[in-house]
Amino acid sequence: MRSIKIFDTTLRDGEQSPGASMNVEEKIQVARQLVKLGVDIIEVGFPIASPGDVEAVKRIATEIKGATIAALARTMDKDIDRAGEALMPAKSKRIHTFIATSDIHLRHKLRMGRDEVIANAVSAVKRARQYTDDVEFSAEDATRSDREYLCKIIEHVIKAGATTVNIPDTVGYAMPHEYGELVEYLINRVPNIDKAAVSVHCHNDLGLAVANSLAAILKGAGQVECTINGIGERAGNASMEEIVMALKTRSAFYSADTKIVTQEIYKTSRLVSRITGMVVQQNKAIVGENAFAHEAGIHQDGLLKERSTYEIMRPEDVGIPKSKLVLGKHSGRHAFKARLQELGCELTGEGLNRIFEKFKRLADQKKYIFDEDIETLVSEEVSKIPEVYSLIDLSVSSGINIRPTATLKLKVNNDIVEEVGHGHGPVDAVYKTIATITQTKSSLLKFEVRGITGGTDALGEVAVSIEEGGRTARGHGADTDIIIAAAKAYINALNKLAARRV
Ligand code: KIV
Ligand code: ZN
Repeated sequence: MRSIKIFDTTLRDGEQSPGASMNVEEKIQVARQLVKLGVDIIEVGFPIASPGDVEAVKRIATEIKGATIAALARTMDKDIDRAGEALMPAKSKRIHTFIATSDIHLRHKLRMGRDEVIANAVSAVKRARQYTDDVEFSAEDATRSDREYLCKIIEHVIKAGATTVNIPDTVGYAMPHEYGELVEYLINRVPNIDKAAVSVHCHNDLGLAVANSLAAILKGAGQVECTINGIGERAGNASMEEIVMALKTRSAFYSADTKIVTQEIYKTSRLVSRITGMVVQQNKAIVGENAFAHEAGIHQDGLLKERSTYEIMRPEDVGIPKSKLVLGKHSGRHAFKARLQELGCELTGEGLNRIFEKFKRLADQKKYIFDEDIETLVSEEVSKIPEVYSLIDLSVSSGINIRPTATLKLKVNNDIVEEVGHGHGPVDAVYKTIATITQTKSSLLKFEVRGITGGTDALGEVAVSIEEGGRTARGHGADTDIIIAAAKAYINALNKLAARRV
């Protein structure tokens, strides 16, 4: 049985999903959970891209133990140095350097010749080796590269000290059989390939990222790069939970498995979904709401007689909790804390006190508190960013024959500011009034409303994306009153923009 290494890139490629950017605290939460999940390598950022990425890589390198921490770098000296310095505190660290190898990229993007690209790659790998013995090289757009040239560059980077070579299907172009065959070809043709691990990294543009990754594993790849819930650039990356469960369920077929603690999968999926605001589709394999729901009578009958008739995996294998109904207004702190832990939230001290208070307030407003309600409270706590603006009071009047009017009281730094404003509807009135008070001129790119649980007393969640001066931010707000939730979401996004300005 081969053990396939799991290289998680949720915090790097996953974060490249439009609107999925995470702040440092959020990245740390996810990294902690990824360690519990048992991933081998966590790629946490691209330090040259932003000071936020440098900070995230440094903090995770300092605080997270139990997995190799990787950072991405182009082949330029300044990229390698920035990644190497940010990774310094990590006990186990990897620099992941990449350059494109396809003629399309060489001609139109890099404007470099083939030999020049090899020279760059070799020098980057050598420079990276001065920071760590663990260096990965990626041949970007490998699947559209000339095979002989791919063999050549891989041979050179291994000679220069690369310990892992990655064959990305950057644009999600390959077909499973073809991709597996490419990996097999490289393994057979590159003379020093036994000195490095072969890795695969697939994008999902044609919906084939998982199928391609599995085809490559079958042909000898020893590492697979993937993300939780398959989030990532454009249509996303290969979904970790799907690859892991395919290998586990069909381990005899693949003669391969991973070190993933599969019972942690569901928790991790929920955490990433609530932090990024990227909703998991209902019928998503492994972690979607319907993944283990059997509707047809014939199926239900079969299941009752013998589970294996219609179930190839058990929900408990991926950590789906048996009961979703949890607590009510009489539940104590102890039960609340235990439920938080089951949901993968390790809050203690002040954080726990604050969220328990919020839970009690919510329990006064609605009868039953579900896991999703608790997760929403947690995400508000975990994503806490310095608050330049906070909502003190809000009232709205609107109706068929009334001009929608909002009266708002906000704390702006240390001042209390009050304003009355109008709009085309209650949300418009609130947003216009908030913009007046905060003296901001952002435009609203997206506004989404979701009932978190059933019933008219459900928590409503609003997610917004706003843009100001070329910067975008995503904000969330939840409340049993949907207009208050909308106000909270907008203020949350404005605080994120303000935090980036300092
Ligand atoms: O898709 C890609 O090619 C990448 C590389 C940086 C590995 O993400
Ligand atoms: Zn990628």
